[in-house]
Amino acid sequence: MVKPKKIFTEALESVLINIWGGTKDHLEDSLIRKTRKALVVIRGAYRFKGEFPKKYPSTIQYRLPKNRAGYLAAFGQRHAYLTYAHLKKVEEINPEVIPKPEENRDELVITTLGAGAAIETYGICFFYNEDSQRLRKLRLNLVDKVDAWIPNRHTVFDKLLKGTFRKLEVIPTDIDADLTKDCIPKLANYYDAIAKSDILLIYNVMNEITTIHSDMVWRNIKFIINSSEQPLLILLAEPSAPNASPRVSWLKTQLAQCSDVIHIRDAEEFFFDSEPLCIDFENTGIGLNDRLFGQTMDGSKPQLISSLKRTHMACRIEPQSPISMEQVLKQFAMLKIRRGEKGRFLKQTSPQGTFWDKYPDWLEAPRTPKS
Ligand SMILES: C[S@@+](CC[C@H](N)C(=O)[O-])C[C@H]1O[C@@H](n2cnc3c(N)ncnc32)[C@H](O)[C@@H]1O
Repeated sequence: MVKPKKIFTEALESVLINIWGGTKDHLEDSLIRKTRKALVVIRGAYRFKGEFPKKYPSTIQYRLPKNRAGYLAAFGQRHAYLTYAHLKKVEEINPEVIPKPEENRDELVITTLGAGAAIETYGICFFYNEDSQRLRKLRLNLVDKVDAWIPNRHTVFDKLLKGTFRKLEVIPTDIDADLTKDCIPKLANYYDAIAKSDILLIYNVMNEITTIHSDMVWRNIKFIINSSEQPLLILLAEPSAPNASPRVSWLKTQLAQCSDVIHIRDAEEFFFDSEPLCIDFENTGIGLNDRLFGQTMDGSKPQLISSLKRTHMACRIEPQSPISMEQVLKQFAMLKIRRGEKGRFLKQTSPQGTFWDKYPDWLEAPRTPKS
């Protein structure tokens, strides 16, 4: 059994050091102060959504280190734990829809949109490996428009995922794409990797995309869904504030129309105040939460928040058959063939003779291209 709390905040501190370009193995006081300030701004940007643009930005520029650090300090631990809570809910409703890596190539493939630091992969690994090591190989397709996240997310994989789940192999593929633009040519370059996805994660990204882009974003998401060669579990979680909800409600409607919905909620508060995933002070004086949210540092201290309100959805999409079963059966009838018990093609004899009796050279005959 892993000890998530201690390992988590230690590893998160390494990611923050990586973002700030720190040189020590811990965040010096000056960097803690900068992180505190930045996280207050990010919380405000989320909460007020452009209402006070001079104080809190309406859009967050993630290429700036202060915004990446502030974002992870404000939401990192809660977003990491959310996927665990989400999968537990899905499992309770229908355990059959949970991908089973041990039965499926011994690996799990996740495509995540607006991946950022991909901190949400932690909860998924914890879900699978909480009691025994079910997940050994994790392949990740990480879609984001800001490439500044790449070294930071690789620190998440090295320090947080591998630090917690020692035998886990993580194989990341970074896909630099803006979902508001036509990304199909880019996504097509990764077709084979995307087609193997078991889970599509849409976590805290739609909140950042205005609804005027919904047609293009849907086109891109549809490409990913249609590429899927196996059942795809889609997990969506986004802020549920009233001014944020139009940015995600259209997507929930689209997904509900083309999938089997497992659950869908407008707003639910997730609490991380008990084990196995509990958000708390370390009470050592040197822990990250102690220093970011506690009394150990002078000046005003931000509140340590251990719950998260989200609108969320889980649904499943079966892979598209390249040709519908109905078309296949029509072809069988036309060719007067049928499937035998062992799956072999057998002649369907009829008094008029078979298709092959009438047209023995049909396969060799030149085809007329469709006009
Ligand atoms: C709030 S972060 C979410 C990170 C992570 N998914 C999580 O749950 O913590 C939003 C991410 O979406 C990315 N993003 C925003 N708009 C995007 C777009 N149009 N195309 C691709 N990525 C986008 C941002 O760069 C950022 O990394």
